[in-house]
Amino acid sequence: HLQPVILSGGSGTRLWPLSREAYPKQFLPLTGANTLLQDTALRLDGLVEEHPRLGVLPRDPIVVCNEAHRFLVAEQMRLIGRTPAAILLEPFGRNTAPALTLAALSAVAADDDDPILLVAPADHAIADGEAFRQAVADGAVLAEQGAVITFGIVPAKPETGYGYIQQGEALANTDLNGAAYRLHAFVEKPERATAERYLSSGEYLWNSGIFMLRASLWLTLIRRFRPEIAEACTAAMDAVRGDGAFRRLDATLFKACPSDSIDYAVMERLSQAEDISEHPAIVLPLAAGWSDVGAWSALWEVREQDGDGNVLDGDAFVHESHNNLLIAQSRLLAAVGVDNLIMVETPDAVLVANRERAQDVKAVTRFLSEAQ
Ligand code: GDD
Ligand code: MG
Repeated sequence: HLQPVILSGGSGTRLWPLSREAYPKQFLPLTGANTLLQDTALRLDGLVEEHPRLGVLPRDPIVVCNEAHRFLVAEQMRLIGRTPAAILLEPFGRNTAPALTLAALSAVAADDDDPILLVAPADHAIADGEAFRQAVADGAVLAEQGAVITFGIVPAKPETGYGYIQQGEALANTDLNGAAYRLHAFVEKPERATAERYLSSGEYLWNSGIFMLRASLWLTLIRRFRPEIAEACTAAMDAVRGDGAFRRLDATLFKACPSDSIDYAVMERLSQAEDISEHPAIVLPLAAGWSDVGAWSALWEVREQDGDGNVLDGDAFVHESHNNLLIAQSRLLAAVGVDNLIMVETPDAVLVANRERAQDVKAVTRFLSEAQ
């Protein structure tokens, strides 16, 4: 089986004032009628039809999220007619390595055929679903053989908020739809100068944050590289309390778990380990219009713009203005003679920002949490 694991525990602070602690960006319909979480759950639809020779069948997803968001997750899944195999509820975030470990333990307990996990961040936009599914179909073939699959994006700028994957030699595997490469090195969130060097070398791809590997392999790797995480998650899952689809983790047990990401805890170390050649790390190039919608400027880029480069959402009006993003939720929002602005209007807060400074919107949430 193919077991999607949807990681939905992040907060997306740079999309304030739409994205809030109580309502993070994965629960918002940022790119269309569906929310990012719903799109993530629907993205595999068509996989089996498009790839009839595929040896694995997708199961209902396991969603891992914060306890506070349980009803948002359940309701958004219900609205698209999906029933998660489980919704694992974290009392607090411990980053993605524990979240994936919990899901792997849950998947192995529910399914004795050792499913291939498809790790899917809930807060991405992917414009070309068919291209994504083609890469996933290739990933399934290779993951079944014991590989760790990453999906690489051609980098557009020396972004320091992403992981970088150095591409090695091409695999000669004729069963695949697209190209596949050995993963030579994995570097999470490099310094600016390093990112610039990677970009100009032409040898690196951005890590999309999507992974595929067998559940048992993830458990082997986390036990090897971060045994404290494996132990704490095993103890927490042993004591998990069920409540319908919800599986609630005990706060005291989960508190003992160190916080770390998949990228630092396993991917960087795996790319440096030399004795695990039976589990090669592979990168599949993903040209599918991927965006992590990390900031308002990214949303402006992925949304359809009018002839003047404006993106208007809600009751918004522009006159002689260019390359702006206007989102109006409760009032008419009008802009005259302005360029390159982000304007987001909500019932209780209004943001006006320079589009080039979209990353700095997190200064507002920092200010707000300090003011509390
Ligand atoms: N359940 C759960 N618990 N989910 C979490 C947690 C947690 O504690 N922390 C983060 N997530 C979810 C987020 O909601 C998101 O969907 C995904 O896991 C990735 O977490 P981020 O916090 O957004 O990671 P990042 O953006 O800093 O970096 C990752 O993604 C980049 C691409 O967007 C890394 O994989 C980078 O290497 C990659 O380039
Ligand atoms: Mg992210």
